[in-house]
Amino acid sequence: GVKIVTIGGGSSYTPELVEGFIKRYDHLPVKELWLVDIEAGREKLETVGALAKRMVKKAGVPMKIILSYDRREALKDADFVTTQMRIGRLPARVLDERIPLSHGMIGQETNGAGGMFKAFRTIPVILDIVKDIEELCPNAWLINFTNPAGMVTEAILRYTNFKKAIGLCNVPVNMVAGFAKMLNVDESQVTMQIQGVNHFIFATDVFVDGVSRFDELLNQYAHLKPEDTIQMKNFVSLPYSPSFIKGLKAIPCPYHNYYFFTKEQLEEELEQFKTGTVRGEVVSKTEEELFELYSHEELQEKPEQLAMRGGAKYSDAACNLIASIYTNKGDIQYVDVRNNGAIADLPMDSAVEVACRITANGPQPIATGTLKLPISGYVQMMKTFERLVIEAAIKGDRDLAVTALNMNPLCPSDEIANTVIDELLEAHKDYLPQF
Ligand code: G6P
Ligand code: MN
Repeated sequence: GVKIVTIGGGSSYTPELVEGFIKRYDHLPVKELWLVDIEAGREKLETVGALAKRMVKKAGVPMKIILSYDRREALKDADFVTTQMRIGRLPARVLDERIPLSHGMIGQETNGAGGMFKAFRTIPVILDIVKDIEELCPNAWLINFTNPAGMVTEAILRYTNFKKAIGLCNVPVNMVAGFAKMLNVDESQVTMQIQGVNHFIFATDVFVDGVSRFDELLNQYAHLKPEDTIQMKNFVSLPYSPSFIKGLKAIPCPYHNYYFFTKEQLEEELEQFKTGTVRGEVVSKTEEELFELYSHEELQEKPEQLAMRGGAKYSDAACNLIASIYTNKGDIQYVDVRNNGAIADLPMDSAVEVACRITANGPQPIATGTLKLPISGYVQMMKTFERLVIEAAIKGDRDLAVTALNMNPLCPSDEIANTVIDELLEAHKDYLPQF
């Protein structure tokens, strides 16, 4: 049987994960699922843990749910560790969003200044977790969902000797679903070639049953009706001009809205800033509602409302990944891994988000060649930003933080970069021991 440990087990997303393991029990027999959280999250973990137990009981699978506040005890002999903790919880996210916005800069949890500070808070914690894994379950796979997932993965790859870390995001599976719909085929028939880094990927080829249909898809995408644009739940992506898509010869992911519609995105966020409805504020309400629902004894399955979160379906991706490693399936999935030459002109030891064949030896990235010309400069720039942020996170280096932010296209001025960084450093100081 398989032992799984989920750090940040008190997350409102946990019922999705539990549902995913229940559905796959026949080929992925999870005997023990340890949900781990910190003492401060006791109330949430007790509530969501009790729901998890009811779900398993109703499904009639012999999966043991164990709640724990002792990470080291939980990790012992784990086969898979998943991480979904949020350092500083949603109030910290709201600061990441509101402080940059108060100076006219986009505020988002994985992009620009917000993404940078989420990395600063998370990287020291993930490195501690990896130390425990190396000691207590060195053969386990670590599957990280904590954002910024790409930077967190690269930090592990660069600053530890642990090799079995994989970053995961639900954007690629959402793109596959969107393309399948456009081509009128089943999602299971569609695979992509992607190039880029987390929340900054481009589809550079798309296959149906292994045969490229990219020219046709690109043309369709260039003339998409606005209402058919591929969307995540946490922000609105505007449709691109036909010229841009045809010239680009690649399909941007929804998150590119921050970069190719910066002006419109900023206007939208400034409106949210005024009305107290930045994403973290909206999600805080959704969370409250979810936990209220979870606390009902009659509830024995994942409630519909969880689909309102941007990360909906992430657990399908996670469970598929774990199942394919466990069964050595060899199917294609999209994860954040060590580049190893998959994108020829990015560093070998950087994390990239690419198509991988998933085997018992983990994800094997599929070579994509060099970056396609129109996207090459931008992807290089984002990778440089990520590397500077990671180094700043490790060293607690304010100069590097200022430089990183200045190099990011979402930063309007050096002066604002300095101001925003100082305010965020102050606001988050309890979670930034390295600075
Ligand atoms: C997307 C991203 C996730 C992110 C989520 C936020 O799905 O891929 O990385 O965590 O959105 O959703 P939320 O509901 O928290 O705004
Ligand atoms: Mn993501």
